[in-house]
Amino acid sequence: MCGIVGYIGHRDAYPIIVKGLQRLEYRGYDSAGIALFDGNDINLSKTKGKVEDLKQKSEATISLEGTLGIGHTRWATHGIPNDVNSHPHYSNSGDLVIIHNGIIENYESLKKELINRGYVFTSDTDTEVLVNLIEEVQKSEGAKLGKAVQIALNQAVGAYAIAVFDRKKPDEIVVAKLGSPLAIGIGENEFFIASDASPFIEFTNNAVYLEDEEMAIIRLGKEIKLRKIKDDAIAYPNILELQMNLEEIEKGGYDHFMLKEIYEQPRAIMDTYRGRLLAGQSLIKMAGVDQHLEKILNANRIIIVACGTSWHAGLVAEYIFEDLARIPVEVEYASEFRYRNPVITENDVLIAISQSGETADTLAAIKLAKEKGAFVFGVCNVVGSSIARETHAGAYTHAGPEIGVASTKAFTTQITVLTLLALKLAKEKGHFSTSRFHEYLTELETIPAKVEKALEANPLVEIIADVYKDSTNCLYLGRGYNFPVALEGALKLKEISYIHAEGYPAAEMKHGPIALIDEQMPVIVIATNKGHYEKVVSNIQEIKSRKGKIIAIVTQGDTQVRELADHVIEVPETFESLTPLLTTIPLQLLSYHIAVMRGCNVDQPRNLAKSVTVE
Ligand code: F6R
Repeated sequence: MCGIVGYIGHRDAYPIIVKGLQRLEYRGYDSAGIALFDGNDINLSKTKGKVEDLKQKSEATISLEGTLGIGHTRWATHGIPNDVNSHPHYSNSGDLVIIHNGIIENYESLKKELINRGYVFTSDTDTEVLVNLIEEVQKSEGAKLGKAVQIALNQAVGAYAIAVFDRKKPDEIVVAKLGSPLAIGIGENEFFIASDASPFIEFTNNAVYLEDEEMAIIRLGKEIKLRKIKDDAIAYPNILELQMNLEEIEKGGYDHFMLKEIYEQPRAIMDTYRGRLLAGQSLIKMAGVDQHLEKILNANRIIIVACGTSWHAGLVAEYIFEDLARIPVEVEYASEFRYRNPVITENDVLIAISQSGETADTLAAIKLAKEKGAFVFGVCNVVGSSIARETHAGAYTHAGPEIGVASTKAFTTQITVLTLLALKLAKEKGHFSTSRFHEYLTELETIPAKVEKALEANPLVEIIADVYKDSTNCLYLGRGYNFPVALEGALKLKEISYIHAEGYPAAEMKHGPIALIDEQMPVIVIATNKGHYEKVVSNIQEIKSRKGKIIAIVTQGDTQVRELADHVIEVPETFESLTPLLTTIPLQLLSYHIAVMRGCNVDQPRNLAKSVTVE
């Protein structure tokens, strides 16, 4: 969590850093700060609140001059969000200034030692400890900034992406990474530093992503110097050419990123299967799978690890893999899996799903599985992310940047990739005839157009949202493939509208949640015509007889549920296993409109961050 931005070059640093921080606000937005070097001195401004608050404060209080600077948007870990705890942090001499994304776990013992040596602390943060530790190393060992950073980091336990500069040597910024992402954009005699490439994409397409335990000395007029933090070994920068463009990371006329991203799903799903799904040849080509086909086909079982929405995509995948490919699957919360001494063998395949590719718990689960000899396959959206690099093989979801904190297109594209994988394995294992396989591929190709159709329900969904916007609770029910969709619908509503919502398998309702149902309770039921339709209809009857308000997601043309429900939202007909790609759409829209009507900050809901790089 937290977003960091830095610049050193020939342009004014302030606008680059502020704009960059705004693009990174998805990573945290409880406070923000900036430090600029104007040629003589450091001008620092920081505040509780958003980057917009920082902008107003900085423009009123400090000189904005300077071609070197660093900035930070925070998601608090140590110390409440307030002005003092905001980054950047000075060292005691006022010479060093630092920004940090991550957690220094042993900061208390380091702080005690520094206090014994006379250091004074103004904030409650672990970061202020780190910058003073660097200063102490500079003083006691006469080390240059780069060396001092390295020695200090070897004493620190935890995770970090840091950028630090020294007022006495204002032609360089030192950066380092362990566990939190850090990209360096390389321009013409200028460098950009950021948690991801979005702050510098309009300036350069060339970037280096630091590996864990690497640091870089970025000096004007010189090539960047990369080192291993542990042993000082030289590392060689792998300069990537980025594919991202500016349009993709701007709102494009929509009121919110979330709505834009909901509407991008037809394109995102198509981009995800493009080049992989070759219906004409009855073929699925996935380079990351083809190279390891034997290993995956012979897996004893597949273990899926993920968090949040990605975990819900994993649950959908469990149904698909077991149903189509007949491979046993377990789906685990990464945070539980990593700490419970799981039984993993070399014959297991672990699939890690993550939009950001940076989720700390998922990353730790991958490392654990690798230690135990499992083959690890990643499904990530962010190219070059830590998880993408840590896995043995993988397949990207080509959703494009997802900026809204609530995940939408990442979910449907994850399901798309996992469906392709399941279909491929099913075919290889001989569970599908060529004609059945071909039918599936052809149907999958129709999904973008069907998602487009599902999006046409938007005006109706808005009307329904208006009826239920003041609810305090909400239930989501689904069965089979649509049980995880019910969980996802509930998560979307609670995270952006702050209405308490729960998802259940529809049949579980009578084992407890039914007690909650009265005339105040909206119940969203996914009742498409495949699978367990009649059983879901019975569940709807049970809700109706207890006066619950029923909002049903049904297949186009449905008449039976229409007679029972208070509202129906239609989605096009498709194969049962593909219904989650459609039924999810009205649930995303419903959460979106309710949140907007309640005046919530849809793209940046309270207490959340897009990329959860702390455990
Ligand atoms: C919810 C949401 C989160 C993420 C979760 C995992 O809308 O976005 O629940 O799904 O934090 O993040 P990734 O997929 O980046 O690992």
